[in-house]
Amino acid sequence: MKIIHVSAECYPIAKVGGLADVVGALPKYQNVEGHEASVIMPYYNIPFTQNNAFESVYNGVIKMDQVAYDFEILKPENLQLGFDIYLVKISGVLYKEYVYSRDDVERFMAFQTATLSWLSVQSELPQVVHCHDHHTGLVPFMMQYCYDFKQFKEIPSVLSIHNAQYQGWFSHDKINLIPEFDKEHIGLLDWSGNINPLACAIKCAWRVNTVSPSYMEELKENANHLESLLSHEAPKCIGILNGIDTEVWNPEKDSYLVKNYSLQKATSGKKANKKWLCNTFNLDADKPLFAFIGRLVYEKGSDLFPEAFDQILNNEDVSILLLGSGEQSTEEKLLELKERFKGTFNAFIGYDEKLSHIIYAGADFLLMPSRVEPCGLNQMYSLRYGTIPVVRSIGGLKDTIVDMEDGGFGFTHEDATVDQIVAAVKRACLLYKEQKEFKRIIKHIMQIDHSWNRSAVAYINMYESITN
Ligand code: ADP
Ligand code: GLC
Repeated sequence: MKIIHVSAECYPIAKVGGLADVVGALPKYQNVEGHEASVIMPYYNIPFTQNNAFESVYNGVIKMDQVAYDFEILKPENLQLGFDIYLVKISGVLYKEYVYSRDDVERFMAFQTATLSWLSVQSELPQVVHCHDHHTGLVPFMMQYCYDFKQFKEIPSVLSIHNAQYQGWFSHDKINLIPEFDKEHIGLLDWSGNINPLACAIKCAWRVNTVSPSYMEELKENANHLESLLSHEAPKCIGILNGIDTEVWNPEKDSYLVKNYSLQKATSGKKANKKWLCNTFNLDADKPLFAFIGRLVYEKGSDLFPEAFDQILNNEDVSILLLGSGEQSTEEKLLELKERFKGTFNAFIGYDEKLSHIIYAGADFLLMPSRVEPCGLNQMYSLRYGTIPVVRSIGGLKDTIVDMEDGGFGFTHEDATVDQIVAAVKRACLLYKEQKEFKRIIKHIMQIDHSWNRSAVAYINMYESITN
């Protein structure tokens, strides 16, 4: 089957969060199953595009609100990803030094229009157009109702919701950015008086999925005002758990690690990575090391950390290391904490792919007290690297982590509160004292299979339900 994934992010070209990891892996696994999946994404002015060679495969023109913009489709020259990837360059609009910012409405409108414009001149059209999140949410509508894209009317579109908090809404004043369409269907664009790309995609895509089954259920109760829409569209909605790319995330071969390790050598391998982390961040390697990696935003529960860490560091003999950036007030409080708890707490405020891999390998426990977690990849990476997750049981975390008390391998808590984070950390510390059991759990979690194989097939089954 010929599938095209349309996305704002794709690892290793542009990554802000887990969306990039998913789009950088799912097509590869679909191709292993004998399909022909490719990706189209924007060409940003970022380190990857600056440092790699691209060949030009197409030049075209789009119009937005009467203004014409030239666009170019580029393909990396020396990149083996396991799928073809195409990048849309539109100077002056899309080609900026960032992935997301305030001008996203114009940028992603241009991206979506150029994508369909280019696809429409291909000798062979895709059999499925798979859109990811709101940045690509107007594609299913445009395929159905824009006069320029009539040839897509019978082609199924799919929407994956990676995060329903962000919907990309904009005012009807900007409606002329959308290529001319059949006005009879204008209502499909709207939700609560605004043009809402995510809502529009939920209405127009032939199938909709969330990135975990539990998140699908949770959205019916709490979807940032889209609850009733999701309940109404429930018959075409499904939850498919994300997988992980076990070639990229492999402790035996990961070139970012200080020391690689197999299941058999997990104890010594993890120890070497922990030692490096503790030396680098002035922490004591004899204490259990708790870590957090991620965006410092409300959804991730990171605003709870300053108070929770304060209590933990005053009462438990542990080290804590945090990697992330986001809300300024949380960053400031963490930096202040770093001064107060020198030797037991450290934080790297920023984004660092290499460091994240070493942390998955070297930490003993990974904290994820998320308020909202559509899937979460970090807990799956940490399982593969033998780091025990301490998570709030929500969304994909609920679907992947089973508490020790229920015969499982992690520590879960019901609510995203300081008290419950602290209590879960205390339980984890007790396990750390039982080194034999602690090591048994590490070996167990490293063998849990979260590779994409199963879910890649689940996506194919979903496509087949609409292409046949
Ligand atoms: P989300 O997409 O909501 O941020 P996910 O758990 O799906 O959450 O994926 C987050 C991805 O981004 C993981 O690959 C994680 O390792 C990575 N990541 C997040 N923050 C950072 C950071 N500061 N430095 C390096 N990698 C990070
Ligand atoms: C989003 C979600 C995260 C999920 C990722 C990939 O960014 O916040 O939970 O893992 O998308 O699907």
